[in-house]
Amino acid sequence: MFIRNAWYFAGFAGDIGGALAERRFLGESVVMFRTPAGRAVAFSNRCPHRFAPLSMGRLVGDRLQCAYHGIEFDFSGRCVHIPGQPKIQKGACVRAYPVEERWGCVWIWMGEPARASVDALIPEFGVLADPRWAPVHGVKEVAAGYELVIDNLMDLTHIAYLHPNTLGNQGGAQAAEAEAHTTVKGERVRVERVIRDCEPAPLYRSVRDIAGRIDRYQYSEFVPPCYVLIELKVMPAGTQDLASGLEWRVFHIVTPTDERHTSYRWVVTRHFAQDDAQVSQALWDGTNATLDEDRAMIEAQARMLEGTSLDARTLPTRHDGTPARVRRIIRELARREEAPLVAETGP
Ligand code: FES
Ligand SMILES: [Fe+2]
Repeated sequence: MFIRNAWYFAGFAGDIGGALAERRFLGESVVMFRTPAGRAVAFSNRCPHRFAPLSMGRLVGDRLQCAYHGIEFDFSGRCVHIPGQPKIQKGACVRAYPVEERWGCVWIWMGEPARASVDALIPEFGVLADPRWAPVHGVKEVAAGYELVIDNLMDLTHIAYLHPNTLGNQGGAQAAEAEAHTTVKGERVRVERVIRDCEPAPLYRSVRDIAGRIDRYQYSEFVPPCYVLIELKVMPAGTQDLASGLEWRVFHIVTPTDERHTSYRWVVTRHFAQDDAQVSQALWDGTNATLDEDRAMIEAQARMLEGTSLDARTLPTRHDGTPARVRRIIRELARREEAPLVAETGP
């Protein structure tokens, strides 16, 4: 189940260049490129003539030419040339998806173009464009539906067990035992967890010289359609001394490729040792290893779930409440999309 009327992450600005590139979002094949003027454009990759992939075509001046029979489209998607046919049928076009750029990221709107709302729905990724923060980032292609990835991120009690070498606390269960506080604001779900007086996780030690025990503050927020932003603050136990601890944010930018595959971009951006390349490397290595563990578990889980709805699971726990709220919101937003546009705009 997908929310279509939403902005999906299509790449960082530098990922979209002048070459035609096929991408898949929500099961749809899309061709993306930059026009000679530098504007990012996304069309259905299916030529409306005989369905040749337009990503096999070429840019000819200010037109995209299909590689099969040479039909040409302008950068709004309108068909402007059919070889050997002087008159072009009214309305002939390829589907064009709204595209926006913000925070150094390119966003694609997969739903009805008339509902594309720039300000309301592009998530706030401003920290990514803030030079006071230092990012490392990567991508994982996951052979599982995106909702399993979101479940993973909205229930971090797994870190003690799945990530003992990076994010887990010594003694294991402390993260799972810590009290979590979940709030729902509109369509966002936020879960806060404070783990007091614990050992620093191995990854923290690898990037920061932390003496003694710590208090660990974790905030995870789900932002529709499928983003999870995690904020981490670590301070020496019993203090509010962030300068002696560490602070980072993790942007989990989850994009459904199709029902069973997910493209999972991650960015960890930190507010300490911004210029230290060794810290960047350690943070990248640790995060990459952690997310490989997540990916392996999520893919294994997806294999076990083949043919069974996750809702049919038989042992719900207290911690499942938060991911369950997220799922309800996704369902509700997807259901609302079935209402005709006229109902929202009125007569
Ligand atoms: S399939 Fe594209 S021009 Fe024929
Ligand atoms: Fe994890």
